[in-house]
Amino acid sequence: MKLSESIPEIHRRYRGLTDGVLANYIPELARVDPALFAVSAVTTDGRVFSAGDADSWFTVQSTAKAFALAAAFDHVAADEISARVGFEPTGEDFGSISKLDRMQRPMNPMVNSGALSICSMLKARFGGDCEDKIFGLLGVAAGAPMEIDDAVFASEMATTDGNRAIVYLLSKFKVLAADPIETLDFYVKLCSLRATATTLATMGATLANRGVNPMTGKASFGPERIRDVLSVMLTCGMYNYAGQWVFDVGVPAKSGVSGAVLMIVPGVAGIVVYSPPLDKNGTSVRGISVARELSSRHNFHLLDVNCPHTPDDL
Ligand code: DON
Repeated sequence: MKLSESIPEIHRRYRGLTDGVLANYIPELARVDPALFAVSAVTTDGRVFSAGDADSWFTVQSTAKAFALAAAFDHVAADEISARVGFEPTGEDFGSISKLDRMQRPMNPMVNSGALSICSMLKARFGGDCEDKIFGLLGVAAGAPMEIDDAVFASEMATTDGNRAIVYLLSKFKVLAADPIETLDFYVKLCSLRATATTLATMGATLANRGVNPMTGKASFGPERIRDVLSVMLTCGMYNYAGQWVFDVGVPAKSGVSGAVLMIVPGVAGIVVYSPPLDKNGTSVRGISVARELSSRHNFHLLDVNCPHTPDDL
């Protein structure tokens, strides 16, 4: 079966799966409609296949960490990055500080501590132009300007004591390149950017397409470090579920607490499942089920000898 047919069929199949709970530690995220459900794929030859609420807006949350990393790889010196963040999975949840406290450096750029460290380097590099520059690059990847959801931003800023603690720990360990509060503000804005399943899938397709948005032909990131971004997504993008994710699905990915799961099939497509109810790891319940089903039907697992290598294989 073609991807164009399997997406609506799988969407129908998992509509009845209503397990999971809305993220409530950011109050505004607990107000969304838990029934929203979208699957959208954008291929590297510019085709879009989607089902459900693919035009509903949500905040990108931690899926943005992958794109912040891509921007940092392009605009910050490699030795500066590796001095301030590692590339090892934590085996812990996204807000955990226990390994940060022990290692005195974030384990990887996908957990909050590592993403905050990456944000500080972007802030140090671009200063007052940082938002324009980075959100502009993300907008090129999405094919549309990125906008902040002010209500979600305010809601997270009012409740983000965990991340506030992390930026000060990073500062204490000398792995923060900019002011702690300015870094936190930029990070929370990054997480509060709005996307639809289709615009986020387009951003994923840009990573799948060596940094070039396949719909517009415009480059958001250089091609040189895309493999490195995808490697970190593969090993660390799903936090303490990362190993099981590789076992079950086998593609670079990033989850967000708004209910987005972003998958990259390198050279082939970016795929997003959006469904707000989350499991205990902060990952969309339907997101994982749909990802597993898509991967098994289309052999997406990178270690599968039959995995697709071009969009023609879909
Ligand atoms: O820092 C936070 O807590 C949120 N802005 C993002 C967390 C997130 O999306 C974790 N991913 N599943």
